[in-house]
Amino acid sequence: MKKEFLNLGKQPIANGFLCEKEIKNEFFFDLKVGFDKETKLVTQMEYVDPSLMFNENYAYRGSMSITMKEHFKFFTKYLQGILPQFPFYKRNPKVLEIGSNDGVFIKNWDYKYTFAVEPCQNFTEETNNMGYKTYASFWDDHLSDLILKEEGPMDLIFAANCICHIPNLDETFRAIKNLLSDDGVFIFEDPSLSEMINNNSYDQIYDEHPHIFSIIALKNILERNGLTIIEVNNTTVHGGSNRIWVQKTKDVKKIDVSVEDNLQHERILGLDKFETFERFAVRVSQSKEDLIRILKQCKEEGKKVISYGATSKSTTIFNYCGIDKELISYITDTTPEKQEKLCPGMHIPIISPQKGFNETVDYAYLGAWNFINEIKHKEKEFLQRGGKFITHVPIVKFI
Ligand code: TYD
Repeated sequence: MKKEFLNLGKQPIANGFLCEKEIKNEFFFDLKVGFDKETKLVTQMEYVDPSLMFNENYAYRGSMSITMKEHFKFFTKYLQGILPQFPFYKRNPKVLEIGSNDGVFIKNWDYKYTFAVEPCQNFTEETNNMGYKTYASFWDDHLSDLILKEEGPMDLIFAANCICHIPNLDETFRAIKNLLSDDGVFIFEDPSLSEMINNNSYDQIYDEHPHIFSIIALKNILERNGLTIIEVNNTTVHGGSNRIWVQKTKDVKKIDVSVEDNLQHERILGLDKFETFERFAVRVSQSKEDLIRILKQCKEEGKKVISYGATSKSTTIFNYCGIDKELISYITDTTPEKQEKLCPGMHIPIISPQKGFNETVDYAYLGAWNFINEIKHKEKEFLQRGGKFITHVPIVKFI
């Protein structure tokens, strides 16, 4: 039973970058967030149909950021280093990635034993061309059965920023258990609820993130599907994420102390209580007021403000706060698929950084605040000449 705690208003498809003539048919939905009393899951009250978001026009490319490329390269190296410790290593393990996007993770693995699942056909084509057998489908019971029949059980199943995209978690985990070998490991990473609460980063919530995971909720849902969390790693990517290691409950030999540590930390934060989220909603509303005030002030002072990174996160911010091209002149983004388009809902133009990130810019709102270190490093000159970034994380401020 879900109970609503936050209403982020009418929102468009967060990655639905569009051109002028598509505006009249733009899709909007009510973005309302609730708390499930039984599982303690933070989840949207109603989910958007996945085929509206994940299709051949999907614009998000994981490999657009050095941080993400390095993150996956580093983790692969670590994982490949410890694989010999797993019993399945002796039999040439098979690897599957669910939600392989543009291959940013799997390209570090050998295509001879690595398989992929990706419903966005533009990317399915790309990774198939790279040599990885990629199933062009959403993850569900049916696909799990098909892969089991064609390739046999998988020893390592990986998913990054994907499981929190799937509305039906019981089916998702059941399908993973079905395909996982008995001594296999399922590893997934997604944005962390505790970090969202700490950072006031409510922009983690948009159509593609029907859920924001706590370890408390995941434990409840995984366990009722015969799976157990054996380790949790806290990572810094995407504004703070958790990497969760899972095995079939009946085959678990050892549970790392990090699991109880994370559960304990989350209980202290109150992530198992509805009131915590009611208080969060009050802070979200304050953040909206502060951001609008600061942007209006910049405009009155005749400053030029742009936005850095046309992110899904900024779709939530701009639409919830009603920020349009009166306040933000344009957005710069390195992704070719987003350039020369308009951002969803508020229709602010998007251009390449080469074209738009120049000496005329006074301030840049950080749509991609999660890459702040990479961006600060890249844009030293901007900061040296007195340019400032604006962020709402964890509070609205200039950097
Ligand atoms: P990300 O924060 O991963 O997005 P989302 O909220 O959609 O999950 O996306 C970062 C976006 O910012 C992506 O479109 C690429 C862009 N970007 C830049 O334009 N310049 C940069 O230096 C970086 C790091 C990202």
